[in-house]
Amino acid sequence: MIGLDQLFSVAGKVALVTGGGRGIGLMMTEALVASGAKVYIASRKREVCEKVAAELGGDDRCIGLGADLSTEEGVVALANELKQREDQLHILVNNSGVAWGAPLEKFPWRAWDTVLDLNLTAPFVLTRELLPLLERAGTPEDPARVVNIGSMLGTVTVSWTAYSYGASKAGLHHITRVFANELADRNITVNAIAPGPFATEMTAHASETDESKEAIANQIPLKRWGTSEDAAGLVLFLCSRAGAYVSGAIVPLDGGATAKA
Ligand SMILES: NC(=O)c1ccc[n+]([C@@H]2O[C@H](COP(=O)([O-])OP(=O)(O)OC[C@H]3O[C@@H](n4cnc5c(N)ncnc54)[C@H](OP(=O)(O)O)[C@@H]3O)[C@@H](O)[C@H]2O)c1
Repeated sequence: MIGLDQLFSVAGKVALVTGGGRGIGLMMTEALVASGAKVYIASRKREVCEKVAAELGGDDRCIGLGADLSTEEGVVALANELKQREDQLHILVNNSGVAWGAPLEKFPWRAWDTVLDLNLTAPFVLTRELLPLLERAGTPEDPARVVNIGSMLGTVTVSWTAYSYGASKAGLHHITRVFANELADRNITVNAIAPGPFATEMTAHASETDESKEAIANQIPLKRWGTSEDAAGLVLFLCSRAGAYVSGAIVPLDGGATAKA
C-alpha cells in the first residue's frame, strides 16, 4: 500500500480546468497546483486567467489561456492550443458554466441555447477533441480523469427557476455515465461533481446579505454553504490514485441536499 501523501497526490500530472480563474474552478485549480499538477486554466477573460496563473506560480505550475467555450470554434481552438503545448492530458475538469433564472411564464428561448451550449455541448465537444491527449496519459493503473461539474439541480426536481440550467446539468450527468461506459477501454474515467450552494459570482444574488445566505444554508441538511476545502478534497480524490477505480459516479457535494430531496 502506497503512503497517504502519494495516494491523494496529482504530482507530475497535466490538467486543464475550464473557468479555473474564479469560483469553484479556482478552488479546484488551487488544490491541483498545490498537490503538484501543472494546470492550464481557460475562460473568456484571458487576463484574469493569466493573472491567477501567475499568482499560483506561473510557468510549469499554472498557465492562463483565453477561450470562449460557447461556440464550437472556441472549444476546438482551446483543444488545439492544448495539443500544441502538451502530448498528454491527465485531468480534464469541465467546470465553465452559466445559469439563467426567470419565472416560468417569462422563461425565454435564448435561455435554453445559451445555457445548454456552454454547460452541456461544450464539455461534450471538449472531451471529444481532447481524447487523443487523454488516451496517451491514461494507464490501467492510473487512468486519465474527466471531471464534469454538474449540479444538485441536475438531480433534484426543484428548479429554483433555473429551468434550462437544471436540464443542462441533468444532461451533463447523463453524458458523464455514457462516457464512463464508453471510455473505460481507453483508460479514461469520467465522473461528475454535483455541487450544492457555493458562494461565487454565479450565486452572488443569493449570498448578498447574511439573511439571504442563512436562508439558503437552512435549506441544506448540514446547514452551511460549500467551501474551497470541500471542492479541493473531492477533486483531489477523483484525480489522484485514490479515485482511480471510480468511474460513472455523480458525486453530490451538497451537504446532504440531494439525499433530502
Ligand atoms: N456556485 C454554485 O453554487 C454552484 C452550484 C452547482 C454547480 N455549480 C457549477 O460550478 C461551475 C462553476 O461555477 P461558479 O459557481 O464557480 O460560477 P462563476 O464564478 O460564475 O464561474 C463561472 C466560470 O465559467 C467561465 N465562463 C463563463 N462563460 C464562459 C464561456 N463562454 N467560455 C468559457 N468560460 C466561461 C467564467 O469565466 P469568464 O467569465 O472569464 O469566461 C468563470 O470562470 C459551473 O459549472 C456551475 O454551474 C456552481
